[in-house]
Amino acid sequence: MADNAQVLSTDAARPHPAGGPAEDRSHLGPTVLVIFGAAGDLTWRKLTPALYNLHLDGWLPEQFEVIGVDRVEMGADQLRQRLRDGVDRFSRRGKADEQVWNALAPYIAYLCGDLGDPAVHQELVKRIADCEKGWNTPANVVLYLAVPPAAIATIVAGLSAGRLTRAHRHSRIVVEKPYGHDLASANALTAMLRQVFDESQIYRIDHYLGKETVQNILAFRFANAFFEPIWDRRYIKNVQITVAEEVGVEHRGGYYDHAGALRDMVQNHLLQLLCYIAMEPVVSFEADEVRNKKADVLHAIRHIPETEVHQFAVRGQYGAGWLQGQEVPAYRAEPGVASDSFTETYAALRLYVDNWRWQDVPFYLRTGKRLPERVSEISIQFRPVPHQSFPPSAVSDWQPNRLIIRIQPDEGIMLRFQAKLPGPTLRLSPVQMRFSYRETFKAGPPEAYETLLLDVMRDDATLFMRADQVDAAWSVLTPVLNAWDTVQPIDFPNYPAGTWGPEQAAALVVFDRGALGPTGGAGAGWLTPVLTEEMQAEEGAAS
Ligand code: BG6
Repeated sequence: MADNAQVLSTDAARPHPAGGPAEDRSHLGPTVLVIFGAAGDLTWRKLTPALYNLHLDGWLPEQFEVIGVDRVEMGADQLRQRLRDGVDRFSRRGKADEQVWNALAPYIAYLCGDLGDPAVHQELVKRIADCEKGWNTPANVVLYLAVPPAAIATIVAGLSAGRLTRAHRHSRIVVEKPYGHDLASANALTAMLRQVFDESQIYRIDHYLGKETVQNILAFRFANAFFEPIWDRRYIKNVQITVAEEVGVEHRGGYYDHAGALRDMVQNHLLQLLCYIAMEPVVSFEADEVRNKKADVLHAIRHIPETEVHQFAVRGQYGAGWLQGQEVPAYRAEPGVASDSFTETYAALRLYVDNWRWQDVPFYLRTGKRLPERVSEISIQFRPVPHQSFPPSAVSDWQPNRLIIRIQPDEGIMLRFQAKLPGPTLRLSPVQMRFSYRETFKAGPPEAYETLLLDVMRDDATLFMRADQVDAAWSVLTPVLNAWDTVQPIDFPNYPAGTWGPEQAAALVVFDRGALGPTGGAGAGWLTPVLTEEMQAEEGAAS
């Protein structure tokens, strides 16, 4: 752990409201959480529900203070009221419990003013000093930038004047995505942050890394012996990563129309999922060890020549259509979106990781808005058996083995394999074994922001993006971004809302069909997410 970002500890322990693991909690020293953008959407929807649930489960430190900073004129009580409303609406546990909220609310203070105003920063420094004086010990100071990217420079300049930077040994800064708009702007952002913070103090959020099921990929791979020996190009035919959303751009048209699916989802969430699947086993769970292994994957991704982008990437934009029985508008008709926008709301890619383990194994990535269902799923398609000894009549329904890691919803893991159908004749059919997170643990997973907030307070950067990872991820996509920025699509919108994206995306996978082996085309193409398959099967059975 870096000396300048040492975690403070205290032996004192606050009574534990939910009987959680007090021994872990007691490691959390006195902490001041400063939220810039306290009146904003992220604080309302994500950060406060996460804080509430951490509090409910007894994870917050005994000596704790939240200082919300924003320029919206209101008092602390009004802010608390708004934040409570956020808990009521968005907490995974439903409405706030009166008693639990009343115990948390006094820890929330408000500092109203312009985020760059030196007087605000002086006041902030004073309040933090007051907390430390009251607790009679230095505090961990977490500076959370829950603000749009344009506000970051102003805040960092203000912090710099107030010495809440690397001069404050126990401070760390949390930066939300989007982290840059491309490689150059991400580099510029890092350079600006590094003028006042050490890399070890910078926590770059990718909320997918806080998802329980994403963390479980490492547990599944490295805490079990059975898959790792076949986790390579000899046994795995391809990997398909799907992050599909039903929602359109909602109220975020202004931001999204300048970003698009590649920047908004692929550069961060999907590439991180790819890293977890492709990375080498870690020697330990030290933050830098995990991040080094992930960076290795990103560096090994084969360069896509700008002139060949069309062979590796497909973009799409939704037109009007139907979703869950409701008519929904085209992307270009969404608020905040230009009526002639060429921004992609769908992106699919075929990538290769050039190393011994993965040479020539395609990794297919796809994500889109207004797709038929919300599902994030990783499908690992195994190669067929080397010799098919069963008669053709037995294997008419043959499908390659498939491992499905379901990130959300219905979190879990499924394994598909062949079994003999009951009866006197020899016929095989795919069956599946399933681990359901909710059925097994009798609870839904915690929200990603709970894990991430707690990790920042613990000074554990494992689940956060290091600068070199961000750079490497932007570098992978740079040729695609350049090609797409240069040539405008002629067919947008090219998929109706409520469908699985543009037809051209199928060609990315068809390209790979030749290498399938003895069973010809079986298993080729994009794999339908398992839930959809099951729904389709049920509908088929009912009709
Ligand atoms: C965000 C994107 O990072 O992730 C959004 O900006 C997207 O556009 C969201 O909707 C998806 O996150 P989740 O957790 O709902 O899958």
